[in-house]
Amino acid sequence: MSLSFPLLGDRLLLRSFEPADLEATHRVYGDAEVMRYVGEGGPVDRGRSAEMIAEHRAHQARHGFAFWAVIERATGALIGDAGLEVTEHGVELGYTLGRPWWGRGLATEAAQLCLDAAVGPLTLPRLVALADVHNPASARVLEKIGFRRRGTTQAFGRAHHSFEHVPGVTPVAGDPRSTTR
Ligand SMILES: CC(C)(COP(=O)(O)OP(=O)(O)OC[C@H]1O[C@@H](n2cnc3c(N)ncnc32)[C@H](O)[C@@H]1OP(=O)(O)O)[C@@H](O)C(=O)NCCC(=O)NCCS
Repeated sequence: MSLSFPLLGDRLLLRSFEPADLEATHRVYGDAEVMRYVGEGGPVDRGRSAEMIAEHRAHQARHGFAFWAVIERATGALIGDAGLEVTEHGVELGYTLGRPWWGRGLATEAAQLCLDAAVGPLTLPRLVALADVHNPASARVLEKIGFRRRGTTQAFGRAHHSFEHVPGVTPVAGDPRSTTR
C-alpha cells in the first residue's frame, strides 16, 4: 500500500521534499555541528544540498519511501529530515534536525512516524539503523521507539552501534500487541 502524505504527528508532519525546500534544508545540511555524525560526517555546500533533495525525491519515486521533510506544524518551518533509505545494510531509518529543535523529543516523534509508516502501509519486514558511537542521543531515539542493539559496525570510516527493528519480534513501545514482552 502506498503512503498518504503528510504523515501527521502531534507536533510534526512529514512530507516529500520539494525543490523549493533548498534554503531551509541547506540551513540544516550546511551546519557542521548538525552533520558531524551524518553520512561522511561534515557539512555540505549548497549545491550538494540541492542534489540531496533531488536524491530524496528520486528515492521516493523508485521505492515509495525516502528521507522526508520534517515540518513543525505550529510554525510551518522545515526543521530537518527523517525517513527510510535503501542502503547496503537494508532499509535504514535516519533523521537529522536543525540545532534549534534538538532536545524537545522531536526526533523521537519523527522517527516514530517513519516506523509507523514502515510497519503499517509500507509493510517493510525489517528495519536497520546506525548511530555513531559518539552520538548517544541518536542511539537513545532508536531505543525509545523499540529498536534493539545488534553490535557495532564500521560505516563512513567510523564506528557505529547497529540497531534492528523487526515487526512482531522487536517490541514497539506502548504496543500491547507486542509478542516479546
Ligand atoms: C540526534 C538527534 C536526532 C536527537 O534529536 P532530539 O530531537 O534532540 O532527540 P529527542 O529529544 O527525541 O531524544 C533524545 C534522547 O537522547 C537523550 N540524550 C541527549 N543527549 C544525550 C547524551 N549525551 N547521552 C545520552 N542520552 C542523551 C535525551 O535525553 C533523549 O532521551 P530521553 O527522552 O530518554 O530523555 C539530533 O540531535 C540531531 O538531529 N543531531 C544531528 C544529526 C544526527 O546526528 N542524526 C543522527 C545520525 S545517526
